[in-house]
Amino acid sequence: MLQDTDLAFDQKHIWHPYTSMTKPLPTYPVKSAKGVHIQLDNGQNLIDGMSSWWCAIHGYNHPTLNEAIERQIRQMSHVMFGGITHEPAIRLCQKLVEITPSQLEKVFLCDSGSVSVEVAIKMALQYWHSLGKPQKSRLMTVRKGYHGDTFGAMSVCDPVGGMHHIFSQFLPQQIFIDQPVSSFGESLHPQDEENLRKAFEQHHHETAAFILEPVVQGTGGMRMYAPEFLNRLSALCNEYEVLLIFDEIATGFGRTGKLFATEHTQIQPDIMCLGKALTGGTMTMATTLATEKVAVTISEGEAGVFMHGPTFMANPLACSVALASLELLETTNWQTKVLNIESQLKQNLTPLLEAPQVKDVRVLGAIGVVECHQNIHVGEIQKFFVKEHQVWIRPFRNLIYIMPPYIIQPEELKKLCTAIQESLLFNNHFTQN
Ligand SMILES: Cc1ncc(COP(=O)(O)O)c(C=O)c1O
Repeated sequence: MLQDTDLAFDQKHIWHPYTSMTKPLPTYPVKSAKGVHIQLDNGQNLIDGMSSWWCAIHGYNHPTLNEAIERQIRQMSHVMFGGITHEPAIRLCQKLVEITPSQLEKVFLCDSGSVSVEVAIKMALQYWHSLGKPQKSRLMTVRKGYHGDTFGAMSVCDPVGGMHHIFSQFLPQQIFIDQPVSSFGESLHPQDEENLRKAFEQHHHETAAFILEPVVQGTGGMRMYAPEFLNRLSALCNEYEVLLIFDEIATGFGRTGKLFATEHTQIQPDIMCLGKALTGGTMTMATTLATEKVAVTISEGEAGVFMHGPTFMANPLACSVALASLELLETTNWQTKVLNIESQLKQNLTPLLEAPQVKDVRVLGAIGVVECHQNIHVGEIQKFFVKEHQVWIRPFRNLIYIMPPYIIQPEELKKLCTAIQESLLFNNHFTQN
């Protein structure tokens, strides 16, 4: 068990995500996690509503995934991928090529979601360079997007949410259009049509690729928008010779009710990023998939190679557990589970629209979002969730959202929703914006 001195060390020396080193938000020591439960050091058991930021789709400590890691570690935990190949990488890539949109045939394995976005951007730039059009060197995207925290990825995150002003001397200047106004379930709003058309007319000659999160904008605001937007975008990309990159790092592997959010549309991207749930939430790995056209063009260009190769590329442990996670997904009827979660989230969260603090409630697949008028006091509300309701929910800005592991049972999901409902009754859970 951790002592007070250990926690004091943590607070003094260890940087946690998105928090201050001098006034850090509280952290909760975790001892173990199993199924849909996170066990704290003090013995308290919390129902997990976050899947550890979209990752742990099968729940924690899954025996099948553990077994895949144990089996692989007896063979080798790592070996370089330069000049070497191995069965875990080949089997995983065979599976990825099989389950992703049919035109995506070439797989680049990398370390994390942000790196897979860097790789996607690099592929797009190198593609046009190879075709003798180096002037096509900017990215187009929508506001309120999120693609990671490295510099290339950050340059296509929402300029306000991504705090571009701090890094403005350093970040490449990309082209932003307004986020889609057409919500999920609606047809394409003329405003979206016009924004898209204008941006392409004005900037296509300098644009390498359009990058966005298909259907759900995650960390940029948890908004679900019309797949029609993507259909129109794809048509414009074809017309104006701009590559299309889908960042499915958050939406991939069933979260929106389809295996990939792309499947809500009739189109296919040129490049697609996957990460997060790829390894079932066990360890970091991501991938960037590309079409034959993109891969061949890059390979026959001036460089003759694709200029990227992380040290831990195709780590065999990560490949093995990712394959096991994908096979588990195939055999565990995730569609029904996600559909059931979706209908219960609609049933339990929609009535919260009556609460004066609530601006909007949105549900798609296994994602439930309660948008409030005011920003949330994360430290206070988490204390309430943990102490009073034994649930793990971590809001940000004005959003209380849940995206539980698919194995969650209806009574556990009900507890998460009740905790959210009751959290709205306390003024100290909100800050003055
Ligand atoms: C859509 C999207 N892209 C990229 C990333 C970055 O992934 P990572 O945190 O693994 O670098 C995230 C992470 O939240 C994401 O949601």
